[in-house]
Amino acid sequence: MSEILVFANTAAQEQAAAVIAANAALQTNDVLVLGEADVGFHNDGEPQIEILTQVRGRECVVIATIAPYAHDLVQHSVNDMAMQTLVLLDALRNASARIVTVVFPYLGYLRQDRRSGKVTHRTAVSARVIAEAIEAVSHRTPHACAVEIHALQIEAFFRTMSFENIPALRTIADLLPVDAYRNAVVVSPDRGGVDRASALKGHLGLQDLAVIYKNRPEPGHAEAERIAGDVRGRQVIIVDDMIDTAGTLVAAARFLREEGAARITVAACHGLFSGPALQRLAEAEIDRVYVLDTVPPAPGVIGHPKITVLPVAPLLARAIRSIRQGESLRSLGKSEPR
Ligand code: R5P
Repeated sequence: MSEILVFANTAAQEQAAAVIAANAALQTNDVLVLGEADVGFHNDGEPQIEILTQVRGRECVVIATIAPYAHDLVQHSVNDMAMQTLVLLDALRNASARIVTVVFPYLGYLRQDRRSGKVTHRTAVSARVIAEAIEAVSHRTPHACAVEIHALQIEAFFRTMSFENIPALRTIADLLPVDAYRNAVVVSPDRGGVDRASALKGHLGLQDLAVIYKNRPEPGHAEAERIAGDVRGRQVIIVDDMIDTAGTLVAAARFLREEGAARITVAACHGLFSGPALQRLAEAEIDRVYVLDTVPPAPGVIGHPKITVLPVAPLLARAIRSIRQGESLRSLGKSEPR
């Protein structure tokens, strides 16, 4: 048996405990143990990190959620969580830890992955910025991985360490109740999500796929324009990588109803639920929403009449085991016959 110490940023503390428990239920020679650390912020908002366990030469896993996080009336922004994670990685590097992998249940900044603005091409590529920042504090760390990244080409933005997507659609498919997708058409709410919708269709053993073409006149506002595929009279399941303001989903659901869709279910990997999202979903023509807990659910999410939160920890524990066994994470997304 080998012992691996687990460290987490503030937003991933509960997830780390869940991963340790999920790992204990797996057949593996590794025991995951929570490392002791002071992970917080100074009063002015700067991250404050001190590793309290002796880590020199010891194997460690870092679990970090790069998303906004609120607790005990304190709000942390996505930038707080990013900076705190970089400083945590620096502290472990300074203490000569041997980091096996950095696991991001949700890694923000990835949506802006190419130079393409509404008006010009003079945009930042924040996906590359975060990749370079992580690498800058990780030069002895061989590996990192993140659940269902926005686009697979982002894997190649990392140049000095291997960065892998953890596919999550099979996990979602395994956890969905049959009533949510029986004879359904799987719908991608935009062109970028077609591969994801197609993967979920395969995992659920379904036949039909439809794609909505959307227009986004401004951030947080989406308009569905047309659809390829037939949803009339059918149950539909919309699949997306994330729900941010829910503008994409609400526009898609309204459009699908106009096209004659019957029951509408949503399956998404990351539930950010920013700004008006919870209210929009409550009022939308959507029957049920399933999300993974890659982002810690805010109080309004737990107990929301339409939202069910599904656990991602067993998938993260299997990902860590695969990395230890030298296996590709792609295999975690392979379908089993239904
Ligand atoms: C877009 O490319 C993404 O896949 C999501 O559809 C989008 O980020 C969701 O954002 P919102 O919920 O604000 O529409």
